[in-house]
Amino acid sequence: MIKVAPSLLASNYLEFGKALDKVVSSGADALHYDVMDGSFVPAITFGQGLLSFLSKRGFPIDAHLMIVHPEKHISEFAEAGARYITIHQEAAGFETANTLRRIREAGCLAGVSVKPYTDVHALEEVLELCDLILIMTVEPGKGGQKLLPFTLDKVREIRRMCTERGLNPIVEVDGGINTETAPLAVAAGADMLVAGSAFFKAEDPAEFVKLLKRS
Ligand code: DX5
Ligand code: ZN
Repeated sequence: MIKVAPSLLASNYLEFGKALDKVVSSGADALHYDVMDGSFVPAITFGQGLLSFLSKRGFPIDAHLMIVHPEKHISEFAEAGARYITIHQEAAGFETANTLRRIREAGCLAGVSVKPYTDVHALEEVLELCDLILIMTVEPGKGGQKLLPFTLDKVREIRRMCTERGLNPIVEVDGGINTETAPLAVAAGADMLVAGSAFFKAEDPAEFVKLLKRS
C-alpha cells in the first residue's frame, strides 16, 4: 500500500485549517509538516505551536525536521501531537541513534532523512532504529523543485540494505513528486510519497491521491 502525504508548505498560509480539510478529504494518509529553522536550510517555516492545533483533528502528522540540533526538540514535537518525527542525519550527527530512540520512546514513529548528496550508507548504523527513512529527492529548503533522478538510485539502495537486514521500514520520498515522477519512485522502492505543489495545484485532489496510490 502506497501512502500519500501532502505537504502543508505548498498551501495557502491564510487558511491552514482549510488546507488540512482538503488533505483529509482527499483520502491522503498524513499531513507532511516541514519545519525549517533558517540554519539547516535558509528558510524559516512553522514550529510546534501550529502543529499542536492541526493535530487536534486526530489526522496523522508527518513532521519533517529540517533543523539543527533536532535532539533538543523531540519532546516538544511529540507533545504537540506529531505521529511521525523525521530528523536529518546531517543535522543530528553522533546524536542520530539516540534521537531516533527518543522519538520512539515518546510514542512516535521515528524517521531519518538524508539530503540528495549524502550517501545512504551513512544510515547503516541506525537502520534498526527507524520506522521510516526519508530520501530527499530535491535539495531541502523549498517546494516546487524538480526531482533529481539520481536520488532514485538511493531509494533502490536503501531498500536493498534494509531487505538484506530483514528490515522493512517505510521509505518516503520528498520533493518534485507528481503523477509522472511518483511511478518512478515507487518502482525504486518508495512506499510513502510527499507531494506539495502538485497536490495543492491539482484540480481534483482526491483523484490526484488516487493516481499516486496506484503508481
Ligand atoms: C522541501 C520540503 C518538501 C516540499 C516538497 O524542503 O521538504 O516537503 O514541501 O514540495 P514539492 O512537492 O513542491 O516539491
Ligand atoms: Zn518535507
